[in-house]
Amino acid sequence: MYICLCNAISDKTIRNIVCQQHVRSIRELRDFVPVGSNCGKCIRQAREIMNEEIAQLSPINNFA
Ligand code: FES
Repeated sequence: MYICLCNAISDKTIRNIVCQQHVRSIRELRDFVPVGSNCGKCIRQAREIMNEEIAQLSPINNFA
């Protein structure tokens, strides 16, 4: 599913970047893809996807 229509960035792309590059913020994510660089409507959803993926990667969060 596309998260950023302006730049054709999918949720899968964002998840892969979070896993492989260990990004932890939208600013870091933007080092790899231009998410939110045009209309900005995708930022909120991109952040949700990123946070979801970070939560899955952090085993300590499973005990909270
Ligand atoms: S949808 Fe991402 S910048 Fe427009």
